[in-house]
Amino acid sequence: MALVRACLCLFAVLVFVDGSAVRVVVQEGSDAILPCSPSTKEDLTYKLFEWKKDGQKEVFFYDAGIHYNNGRSGQDEQFRGRVSFFPDQLTSGNASITITNTKTVDSGEYSCVFPRLHPGQRYTVQLVVDKGLKDRSGENIPGASPRPFITANETSDGMLLLCEVNSASPEPVLEWRNSSGNILPAEKPQVSEKDRSYSVVLQTTVTKSGRYRCVSTQQEIHHQVYTETQVNLHKGAASEPTIRVTTTKDGLLLQCSVRGASPKPEVVFRDSSGNILAAEPQVTERGGSYDVILETMVTKSGDYQCVATQKEINHQRSTKIHVPSDKVFESGSGVSISPSWIGGIIVGALLVVVHQTLLEP
Ligand SMILES: *[C@@H]1O[C@H](CO)[C@@H](O)[C@H](O)[C@H]1NC(C)=O
Ligand SMILES: *[C@@H]1O[C@H](CO)[C@@H](O)[C@H](O)[C@H]1NC(C)=O
Ligand SMILES: *[C@@H]1O[C@H](CO)[C@@H](O)[C@H](O)[C@H]1NC(C)=O
Repeated sequence: MALVRACLCLFAVLVFVDGSAVRVVVQEGSDAILPCSPSTKEDLTYKLFEWKKDGQKEVFFYDAGIHYNNGRSGQDEQFRGRVSFFPDQLTSGNASITITNTKTVDSGEYSCVFPRLHPGQRYTVQLVVDKGLKDRSGENIPGASPRPFITANETSDGMLLLCEVNSASPEPVLEWRNSSGNILPAEKPQVSEKDRSYSVVLQTTVTKSGRYRCVSTQQEIHHQVYTETQVNLHKGAASEPTIRVTTTKDGLLLQCSVRGASPKPEVVFRDSSGNILAAEPQVTERGGSYDVILETMVTKSGDYQCVATQKEINHQRSTKIHVPSDKVFESGSGVSISPSWIGGIIVGALLVVVHQTLLEP
């Protein structure tokens, strides 16, 4: 008996010295990194290593660049598409893997084996995938809030975000935050209770694309979890620009406005030949959405077009107006132009057009 005990003891010491008494504990649904770095610290890029679960299930296999994620077959169904390694860490002798979206059935003993190293090496990692949160004494806390569940729905005001937590106790406090961590204004939370277990829904509307996070906090049990979502709003696509025409003593003032666009649109006036007219846009921003006003003075009749472009979302809208010749010239304080002049100007304009057309490839 004493001999057996001595052996066990030696074995335990070996295990310890070997560094294989590694235990990784994760919450169900989260990702687990299983560490493995042989003591030799050699470059593993052209080596072979294998990860197995409970000595039999094929978790991951790597042989000089060939592995389960780039064509090699044989991986156990349970791990398909869920295991990755760290290519940039191989040179420093790191054969760790990540298992994503862990389930309780993933709990068990994982071995990382280098059969071709001399001496051959083997490391083990104990993975524990926990269903519930544990308190300090290791007891399950049944009411710990799970990760919030987010749904998004595009409306005419922006993106309606719904955050939902079910079966939590004590009552969790939900918050919506933007990527800078600021709490967003939200509707009053809808809370329902059944047998002291709470379900809470918190809704907010955002008008800007970006990352948003819903945080669930249970202060009493020092528990906080969150879920993030990426919002891509297309509602900021510019609508048709509107053009206003005002008569001034110097000619006609064309004012083009594009409102509530996001991302910021580029707005230009083009004449009938497609030339961009000199004009300085006035841009105002409110809550990530832009109003652009562009003014230009025209002294020639013809077609004018205001074009709003949002390259980022591949979006363009334009509005065209026709300025008749009498409109340009009726505004006569000072300059008075005789009809024969007008004929000359129109011919001139036509010549410019023809010239331009000829020049175009
Ligand atoms: C191996 O790489 C992973 C991922 O970068 C890292 O978390 C781990 O600490 C590394 N292990 C060692 C021993 O450097
Ligand atoms: C999104 O909003 C529309 C209009 O309010 C509603 O009819 C639809 O059911 C909503 N969809 C989801 C998934 O909530
Ligand atoms: C988050 O919200 C604050 C307050 O409304 C605002 O100042 C900040 O710019 C926002 N951050 C982002 C990334 O939208």
